[in-house]
Amino acid sequence: MKFLILNGPNLNLIGKREPELYGVTDFLVYLESLRNFYSQHEIAYFQSNAEGDLIDQLHEKALDCDGILLNAGAYTHTSIALADAIKAIDTPVIEVHISNVGAREAFRRRSYMAVVCRGTISGFGLLSYELALLSFLTPGE
Ligand code: DQA
Repeated sequence: MKFLILNGPNLNLIGKREPELYGVTDFLVYLESLRNFYSQHEIAYFQSNAEGDLIDQLHEKALDCDGILLNAGAYTHTSIALADAIKAIDTPVIEVHISNVGAREAFRRRSYMAVVCRGTISGFGLLSYELALLSFLTPGE
């Protein structure tokens, strides 16, 4: 199967940024281990700090993959445009967060992604991405 991990603003700094919240592992190092472990699947990756670039990726890659793992970073809490883009495509999207957004500042408890995503995985560190991937790989009832 083919998947896309789409990371939003400031997630290029994972490993260096607020390590007490987001850990010390560089995202690209983690991605390599994920790709090695799930080598029978294709895991594409795109990160941008720009909202429009993330929307373009959703439009362009949707037809080409079976599932999208989206960590929209702070756009999670602000972007109606990203939510509309998810609504506009048929490919299922899972909302992913490294930190437990429900246990942080009140403004992080509102997600514009949640209502348009298949589900949300939040608070398990980088493992959140693998859990989202597993949910795509696990047959439904
Ligand atoms: C985040 C949580 C967001 O609230 C924050 O703005 C981020 C990272 C997470 O993965 O925990 O940039 O999406």
